[in-house]
Amino acid sequence: MNPLISIRNLKKYYSQDKQIVKAINDISLDIYRGETLGLVGESGCGKSTVARCLLRLTDPTGGTIEYEGKSITALKGKELKAFRRQAGMIFQDPYASLNPRMTAGDIIAEPLQIHNLAKGAEKKRRIRELLELVGLPNESYARYPHEFSGGQRQRIGIARAISMNPGFIICDEPISALDVSVQAQIINLLKQLQEEIGLTYLFIAHDLRIVKYLSTRVAVMYLGQIMELAPSDELYKNPQHPYTQALLSAIPIPDPKIEKARQRIVLRGEVPSPINPPKGCPFVTRCPHATPVCHHVRPEFKEISSNHFAACHLLTEFEHSTEESELIGINQNSSS
Ligand SMILES: Nc1ncnc2c1ncn2[C@@H]1O[C@H](COP(=O)(O)OP(=O)(O)O)[C@@H](O)[C@H]1O
Ligand SMILES: [Mg+2]
Repeated sequence: MNPLISIRNLKKYYSQDKQIVKAINDISLDIYRGETLGLVGESGCGKSTVARCLLRLTDPTGGTIEYEGKSITALKGKELKAFRRQAGMIFQDPYASLNPRMTAGDIIAEPLQIHNLAKGAEKKRRIRELLELVGLPNESYARYPHEFSGGQRQRIGIARAISMNPGFIICDEPISALDVSVQAQIINLLKQLQEEIGLTYLFIAHDLRIVKYLSTRVAVMYLGQIMELAPSDELYKNPQHPYTQALLSAIPIPDPKIEKARQRIVLRGEVPSPINPPKGCPFVTRCPHATPVCHHVRPEFKEISSNHFAACHLLTEFEHSTEESELIGINQNSSS
């Protein structure tokens, strides 16, 4: 199956006070049609920068991004506008991302207006349809953002993101700013919309707990790099990277017996800055299993079992040594 989105060796560097911030430090990743790819990592690890590069809200420093097999990194003018019609974004804080002086109807219709897709009665019909899809009453049309609750405001943000019938939606921490009681409602709405209109999601969160229910596959990010990527079930049952293991060990288990026996892996050491990331593995300063090689050589992001990828010397060490011995074998043969 061809991926909908294919990211290769993506880099995004910012310069700040004459220093270079490596917000994305060489990541490669595919997103398949109809799936939800969860992207998880601590604050500042580069998740939103990935989102911004994918929608071409910022230009990558290096690497390629393909959408339906075509590069989007050099799109301009009309072509860029056409691409943006196929992709939507839902933001973390619906209050900050909705214009307080516009009515919900106008906010939802704004993308249609920008792209000249609907006017007059047709526009009104579409707004009503969208309000219904996201579970908001018809009267919401003429109300202002402050008249809604947090959860309702996020529904407006979702209606706006899907107004142009995009195939692909980025949800950037869409429930982090909401009360726990409404978080599940928004997750359920996103799931329901995915089934009804066949959306593909990149779902960004800082906590593995949040992406579990929705994600087909999960990618774990650390300091601008991807540490592990696997189908959701596999990642939660069989995490391989020490960073993923530590993140999962911090999640409480609802069963009191299992919870009592749960062993937390407490990460020590500072989170390094993306201004001066470690030369070898980005996780080396906090990894409980770091070896000398981890300090010097960046581990390759490799498939360690079927559809399960990780960047860790501990997981690929064996392979390295066989490769090395084979290499020595070849050399020996050729010299004899
Ligand atoms: N416009 C910018 N200029 C300089 N640094 C930036 C800019 N945007 C993001 N960064 C830095 O890039 C890193 C990744 O940021 P971001 O992608 O927002 O992380 P996340 O969404 O995972 O919290 C952070 O260190 C952040 O400070
Ligand atoms: Mg962010």
